[in-house]
Amino acid sequence: KPMRLWGGRFEGGPADALTRLSVSVQFDWRLAPYDLLASRAHARVLHQAGLLTAEELDRMIGALDDLDRACAAGEFRPTVADEDVHTALERGLLERLGALGGKLRAGRSRNDQIATDLRLYLRDHVRLIVSRLVELETALMTQAEGHAATAAPGMTHLQHAQPVSFGHQLLAHVHALARDADRLRDWDKRAAVSPLGAGALAGSSLPLDPQAVAEELGFASAAPNSMDAVADRDFAAEFLFCAALIGVHLSRLGEEVVLWASQEFRWIEMDDAYSTGSSIMPQKKNPDVAELARGKAGRIIGDLVALLTTLKGLPLTYNRDLQEDKEPVFDAVDTLLLVLPAVSGLIATMRVNTARLEASAPDGFALATDLAELLVRKGVPFRDAHEAVGHLVVWCQVNDTTLERLTEEDLAKISPHFAAADVTPGGETLPTALEVLNVQGALAARSRHGGTAPDRVRDQLADLREIVDGQ
Ligand code: ARG
Repeated sequence: KPMRLWGGRFEGGPADALTRLSVSVQFDWRLAPYDLLASRAHARVLHQAGLLTAEELDRMIGALDDLDRACAAGEFRPTVADEDVHTALERGLLERLGALGGKLRAGRSRNDQIATDLRLYLRDHVRLIVSRLVELETALMTQAEGHAATAAPGMTHLQHAQPVSFGHQLLAHVHALARDADRLRDWDKRAAVSPLGAGALAGSSLPLDPQAVAEELGFASAAPNSMDAVADRDFAAEFLFCAALIGVHLSRLGEEVVLWASQEFRWIEMDDAYSTGSSIMPQKKNPDVAELARGKAGRIIGDLVALLTTLKGLPLTYNRDLQEDKEPVFDAVDTLLLVLPAVSGLIATMRVNTARLEASAPDGFALATDLAELLVRKGVPFRDAHEAVGHLVVWCQVNDTTLERLTEEDLAKISPHFAAADVTPGGETLPTALEVLNVQGALAARSRHGGTAPDRVRDQLADLREIVDGQ
């Protein structure tokens, strides 16, 4: 007869259909080490409360340690008859301790246990995710370091807009990931609250000490309201939002890598170790890592929506719906831990085609804004400068030439503004139009805070290294 944690008032056993619906051990078994940690802490407060003798506590801790070891070694495994992780572990404890094992359940419920287990699991795994984020940030920063002065086409609407430092673009992704890591650190402050002691929902009539349990388990405090303690899944929803946003950031980086690796862009060459081939086309080298990073964002967003939908309208306190909280959380954790190392490897090993980037940086009249801004410095209203340079662009198109190939005479023909003296209204000397029309000058000129000038990019990199070191 399968062991259940309930059944005293029931005649006969549950229907098969109920058992199959109800069972969660196939996915919550990964919480076993955390459940055992919480059980040890609980055993100690039972002893402090005079509900376990010193000798009983010793045997209890010994059995929990042995069970932990047996679980880790795969010697103790849940069976199909175990409803959930708590049921399986109680069976293991009873096998080791007999009747004494039945004392551990006093003063706690699976409701406060499962909420505690999931918090412990997540706090642990969030630390892993942050480490993997730091690895990706580091890979991007290392590439950026080598390309602070590499000019690249900066895009808006996926059209050439203005030249930027390729390092600047890579660091833009690092900022997003650094905010993600920061968000997870901040998440931990709110997750570090222990539900144990709440019991089913009302707390316990036994003289237990939830604060001592909280402290032993590394939580900052014990939940101040037993009903909130068992009903609250904010920590899971907030984690899933953070995870979904990481997914979104990886998808945007992934999409860029897909473009960069294409024949049309040829900005980067992916390492063989991070590329895939085609079963029919022998020449193919595909960016599957980047595409999976892009694709996996969808399932993490799904995980977030699944949990929010479960929580919406749920009355206090514990309802069995809450059992649905775990699979989305586990899926998001597993997905991130799978995707992040692959993307880090892809970025760390890609070779940047510097010559190609630099050659295409001025394409699409990308220096037009620089010319308009030169006119502004000569005192021309921006509205007129914009118009004059617009005409110049059309003239170049009609004459099948580029801004960089223009001569002084060409410029003078288009607008008198270009021919005006190269001085500010205050008499300060300015570069000539032809001097402005070069990519390195355009980068260097954007030298204010946040700009793409190579020197600013290097400052930015130094600041980021400090931030990432602190993560
Ligand atoms: N397996 C349940 C969960 O994951 C915990 C057990 C609580 N069950 C109950 N009937 N109160 O949420």
